[in-house]
Amino acid sequence: MNFDLNALLRPNIQNLKPYSSARDEFSGTASVFLDANENPYGSAGHQVAYNRYPDPLQQAIKTRLAELEGLSPQQIFLGNGSDEAIDLLIRAFCEPHQDHILLLPPTYGMYKVSADINAVDIVEVPLTSDFQVNRSAVLAKITAKTKIIFLCSPNNPSANLLNHTDIEAILQNFLGLVVIDEAYIDFCPRGTSWVNRLNEFPNLVILKTLSKAWGLAGLRLGMALAHEDIIQIYNRIKPPYNINLATQQLVLQALENVAWKDEMVTEILKQREILRRELAQLPQVLKIYPSDANFLLVKVSEPYRLYDYLVEQEIIVRQRANVMLCDGCLRITVGTPTENQALLVAWRNF
Ligand SMILES: Cc1ncc(COP(=O)(O)O)c(C=O)c1O
Repeated sequence: MNFDLNALLRPNIQNLKPYSSARDEFSGTASVFLDANENPYGSAGHQVAYNRYPDPLQQAIKTRLAELEGLSPQQIFLGNGSDEAIDLLIRAFCEPHQDHILLLPPTYGMYKVSADINAVDIVEVPLTSDFQVNRSAVLAKITAKTKIIFLCSPNNPSANLLNHTDIEAILQNFLGLVVIDEAYIDFCPRGTSWVNRLNEFPNLVILKTLSKAWGLAGLRLGMALAHEDIIQIYNRIKPPYNINLATQQLVLQALENVAWKDEMVTEILKQREILRRELAQLPQVLKIYPSDANFLLVKVSEPYRLYDYLVEQEIIVRQRANVMLCDGCLRITVGTPTENQALLVAWRNF
């Protein structure tokens, strides 16, 4: 059997007549726009004009991202954070109360939350104790109702890359969608991303975000990279103007500064190793897991008391002690040298 995207789609989405916005129906040049009930005078409180609706398909950003990723603009969907890309995919392909997604905990929490919001069931196959894919268990759990498998690599909260051979086996043996969430891929060596293998797999969806290495979490821009047939489905069901004009303008400016992003990544990786060495000296630290991301998963004695103590010192880390396979763990984002020192100084006084 071959991969059949249409058969995978929910029937109501197959039959959907998408909303056609004013700006969808017009292309070419014009000087008078009286089609979208906008305010012609400008924007209250701003010299920059935000009074016109933004490009619904964000062509300028996609052209630039396509250059950077070595893809075509038609292989890119842009979302209001990758969280929107996750939600839309579940909504397009999973029939509520009927289909399910497959998750490999511990992993990023929004896959489950999006499924829960959409009344879509979850089947879980935990990662192994070294946070790798239990390949045979995953393949054994697949049924006709399995529509999407979410893989997160590097994984949050465990921080490690998932083995390529396991991912490839899933891509080849599953006729639903395989999502690889690469939110942290910029912190990994070149060549570890699945982007350059996208053209081999019609069922592959890669998620990326500008929230991490690019330092643009506040602007909310995530992306799905996939075969253009999958991107067309995204475009049919997305809210018409899902990326606001300010974000589009500011992101375009950022994407001209690849070297700036690369410098920040280099510095974060350097600080990560300094932080790892310093944390390893602390008596409460039992284990620091290997990291391919901008955070460390650290197993400690007394995780709850330590967490509360750090909060009292106005230092916030992420409590993961109650997460599957993460007993006793805190997740610590790599900060600036000053921030990391503040953590270490406070911790030494615990
Ligand atoms: C694995 C993973 N994917 C996606 C996201 C969210 O990305 P965005 O800010 O683009 O919604 C996060 C945020 O922490 C994450 O850890």
